[in-house]
Amino acid sequence: MISHHVRRAARLTAIAAATILVATSATLNRVWDNGLARTPPMGWNSWNHFGCNVSAELIRGVADAMATNGMRDAGYQYVVIDDCWQVARDRNGRIVADSVRFPAGIKALADYVHSKGLKFGIYTDAGRRTCQGRPGTYDHEDIDARTYAEWGVDYVKEDWCNAEGLDAPTQYAKFRDALARTGRPIVLSICEWGSNEPWKWGPQTGNLWRTTGDIEDRWASMIALLDLNSQYNASARPGAWNDPDMLEVGNGGMTDDEYRAHLSLWSLMAAPLMAGNDVRSMSPTTRDILLNRDVIAVDQDSLGVQGMLVEEQGDGGGLQVWMKPLKDGSRAVVLLNRSVLQTPISVSWWRLGRLRGSARVRDLWSHTDLGTFSDHFSATVAPHGAVMVRITPQG
Ligand code: GLA
Repeated sequence: MISHHVRRAARLTAIAAATILVATSATLNRVWDNGLARTPPMGWNSWNHFGCNVSAELIRGVADAMATNGMRDAGYQYVVIDDCWQVARDRNGRIVADSVRFPAGIKALADYVHSKGLKFGIYTDAGRRTCQGRPGTYDHEDIDARTYAEWGVDYVKEDWCNAEGLDAPTQYAKFRDALARTGRPIVLSICEWGSNEPWKWGPQTGNLWRTTGDIEDRWASMIALLDLNSQYNASARPGAWNDPDMLEVGNGGMTDDEYRAHLSLWSLMAAPLMAGNDVRSMSPTTRDILLNRDVIAVDQDSLGVQGMLVEEQGDGGGLQVWMKPLKDGSRAVVLLNRSVLQTPISVSWWRLGRLRGSARVRDLWSHTDLGTFSDHFSATVAPHGAVMVRITPQG
């Protein structure tokens, strides 16, 4: 049993080392680069909480809130309207916004968001219609890209509904090129749910790509997306990120411990951090979770490596150690308790790459320096919870 665990851990460490090598050579091979998203995009998106119920009033209220509640200053930058803002095309083929919900038009709204020191994002679909049946971008790539650029759009999420018979890499590349021709820097968010292996062509095509189906506001869904998204860590690097979908923090379906684990794991995976709650009226606890600067710093670390699973403890894999190497030589570590019992979890330095001797440990949720530890660190972890620390070698 012990030797089984040792072998398994050695294998995980080898995978981690190989991953870093692969990521480095992939960076050299990359041809396309629009210079954007050097760290994972952060912002807010309407879908998880509001669905189709979007309006200029909502977006303005969200921008006001983000500019004053600390979110903007913590790095949440893009305010993105998801599906349902669009209703038709005019006779020139130009996309038309819902004039009841967006009476002054989209350009005026983008100007407002910009006036708050934020960036503005919008949603479309590479197929003929969006997932909610609104006009899609298929065969309108150039006119849509030009329209968005004229409106001052900084970020486009492009979905994949109603795209039967189309080839995903081809369609997304068409829109990538149309965006490039506008001359405006626009982040491209690919959203085909991991159905065409986007971790292979996404880095040449967009700045982020979904690796999974839609998140639901419950623990099992969040954990399922973790297990999927973590398989593709070798593809992530500055400018190109795996996207395990938007955050559910504050939407009410998980406990606060579960939401802390959610943000810890997304940051460990260098995932885009797109808040998906009603940020105009969140509780102080939700705000504290979303605005945890120690955790955000891990997500936004300039080394740009997606963290990985380095150890599983206990039968059935309920206790896990995740690790992300950081620019300054320290390691972010998440001790994840997937079980329903409070349990101690420990991490040995030898599982964290070439870490030896004594190291300083900082708890990223209690914001306390725990002191100097040699060779290992352990902590008691709440059920469905995570402890997140930053381990910095000494000397
Ligand atoms: C798909 C996407 C979601 C959301 C909806 C909107 O399901 O994956 O993120 O954009 O469409 O209809």
